[in-house]
Parts: sequence; C-alpha cells; structure tokens
Amino acid sequence: MKALLSKAPGPPSTLVIEDIEKPAPKKGEVLVKVKVSALNFFDNLIIEDKYQFKPPRPFSIASETTGTVEAIGEGVTNFGVGDRVVAYHNTGTAMEYVTIRASGLSLIPDGVSEEQAACLMVTYGTSYHALKDRGELKKGETLAVLGASGGVGQAAVELGKIMGAHVIACASSDEKLEFCKQCGADETVNYSTEDLKSRLKELGGMNGIDVIYDPVGGDFAEAAFRSIAWKGRFLVIGFASGPIPKMPLNLALLKGADLRGVFWGAFTARQPQDNARNIDDLLGWLADGTLKPHVDSVFPLEEAEAALNKIAARDVKGKVLLRIGD
Ligand SMILES: NC(=O)c1ccc[n+]([C@@H]2O[C@H](COP(=O)([O-])OP(=O)(O)OC[C@H]3O[C@@H](n4cnc5c(N)ncnc54)[C@H](OP(=O)(O)O)[C@@H]3O)[C@@H](O)[C@H]2O)c1
Repeated sequence: MKALLSKAPGPPSTLVIEDIEKPAPKKGEVLVKVKVSALNFFDNLIIEDKYQFKPPRPFSIASETTGTVEAIGEGVTNFGVGDRVVAYHNTGTAMEYVTIRASGLSLIPDGVSEEQAACLMVTYGTSYHALKDRGELKKGETLAVLGASGGVGQAAVELGKIMGAHVIACASSDEKLEFCKQCGADETVNYSTEDLKSRLKELGGMNGIDVIYDPVGGDFAEAAFRSIAWKGRFLVIGFASGPIPKMPLNLALLKGADLRGVFWGAFTARQPQDNARNIDDLLGWLADGTLKPHVDSVFPLEEAEAALNKIAARDVKGKVLLRIGD
C-alpha cells in the first residue's frame, strides 16, 4: 500500500511516497481503509523535528482521518466491517490503510461526508476543550479569537457562537475577516492594519474581554492580554507566528485574570472519557447541521508537499485535506 513518509527531518519536499506492507489489526484495533485525512499546522513542525512530539522515523503525518472499517482485531465488538469512521491518531494517517485502537474511533453520522468529518477531531476538539473545559466560557461573555480564520481559530469562532458568546474575530486580512463573519463572528479586528490592544479595549468596553483564545503568540499575546476583563481567562493555544511570548505577570495580578494552558493531545490521553463526551457533542452538532466545518482545499496524497506549503504560507481558511482513497 502507498504511504507518505518522513524519513529525514526537513521541509515538505523531504516527504516520500513508498510502498509498505498493509498492516493487520492487533487485539483491540481496527483496520481502516483511509478515504480522507486532514492536515494541521503542527504537521509542518513534526517533519522538521520542531514539535513537542517526535515520533521515530519513518513516520507518516496527518493525525486525523476518515474511512471505512476493513477488518477488526480480536476483542473489538463496537465496530463492524464497512462502518464509516473518524479518528484522531497521533502517529499519522497519510497512507492507504491504518490500524487504530477501537477506543479512538467514532462512527460518522449518516448524512455527514468524510470530508466534513475529517475536519472535526483536532481543530474542533481543541477549541471545544479550550472554551468549555479550560476557558469556562459562559453565555453572554465576550470572546476574542486570534488567528480566527485558521483551523483552530475558525472552530473557536463557530463554537463560541454556539456557546452563546459575543465573538470578536482577529486576523491579518479583510478577506480572512469576511470569512470569519460568515462563520458567525460579531465583530472583527484586522491586526495588520489596526492596533490590536486599543481595538480590543474599545470592543471590550467597560468590562473588557472575558476569554481570549490565542493560537498565534508573538507580540499579539501581550497586546490582547492587556484588554482582558476582571477574572478573564487567556487561553494559550499555540505560537503559529513563531516566537513564544513572555508575559508581564503584573497584568494577571491587576485583573485577577488567569493564563490557562491548553494541550488537547494530552487531554485525550489523560482524560479519554471527558474527551469522548466532547467528541459526542461535536458529532451531534455536525449531524444536525449546527457545525459547518470549512474545507479550504483538498489535495491528492501525491501533492502533500503543496498542501503543507499552503499552510506554512498562512494561506488557509479552515482545513486542508488529503484525499487518499475512494
Ligand atoms: N494547544 C493545542 O492543543 C493545539 C491543538 C491544535 C493546534 N494547536 C496550535 O495552534 C496553532 C494554529 O494551528 P492551526 O491548525 O489553526 O493553524 P493554521 O490553520 O495554519 O492557522 C494559523 C493561523 O495563525 C496565523 N498566523 C500568524 N502568523 C503566522 C505565521 N507566521 N505562519 C502561519 N500562520 C500564522 C494565521 O492567521 P493570520 O494570517 O490571520 O494571522 C493563520 O490563520 C499552531 O501553533 C498549532 O500548533 C494547538
């Protein structure tokens, strides 16, 4: 079977497609015939050995996938051959067949396409865990989302609205912000042309911003934190702009505010039952049309290099997918 592999650290051009042996499911595992897998910002970091998680080589990328169950291992009773499934799988799914622990799989609801389902796990899983479990976002509160048109940012905008917040989307172009409005944002800030701190202070009014969702980092983190409300929560999601910000802690003291870290991958491993409940909520919203994931583009496996370069070029609204099987 075909597999996209990282055999040496480096940019997307170092990835190779090779024929490898089709795996067989072990006890507790399911063999999935992959249809669509999704890429994330961190796939570019993993192949360059710049991510916190460094799998042994050769490894594949794309930590979330959809497809059909081809075979089941000993002891698996909750899935059958032919089931359409979606999964988070941290060692990579950019290959024609992958074995996944049955506990990491969910059924794709009827009426939901594999492309839509492939968008769900990492971005919506992260943003829902962030806003609900870490941010304790409440109805009527104000939420500011940085990098709001990207993968996790778009999911945070949509989920913020579902949770009843007043959502301020912040991004680097008017075109991206128009997209955020279509996803439900109430207000927008273009941080390429406007001063983020003063605009957020203005939009937060007397109260300030209750929850700030930051996947971008760099200088924007402190600028945003300066607009936070009394008892506000600043969610540390990631550092897409590169630099890891340093924060003057007097700002937290003055507002009685919290800096809260979010690490969805660790949450899935440490609190699998809580994560499963979150995924059930998300699948329910996907099935009834409440959630509308946006697919930016779909590339064949052979064009994974172009797909990863699009993410690195900051040129994505929503998700980038790899189509692998029929
Ligand atoms: N904590 C967790 O559990 C968790 C889970 C998933 C992802 N993450 C992290 O969240 C961050 C965003 O991931 P994502 O999948 O949403 O990525 P993405 O789709 O590529 O979006 C990232 C956004 O960041 C902004 N950005 C600013 N400077 C950038 C730069 N130099 N290069 C690329 N983007 C830049 C871009 O928006 P503008 O152009 O509008 O600024 C872009 O839309 C990453 O750091 C990722 O590792 C964390």
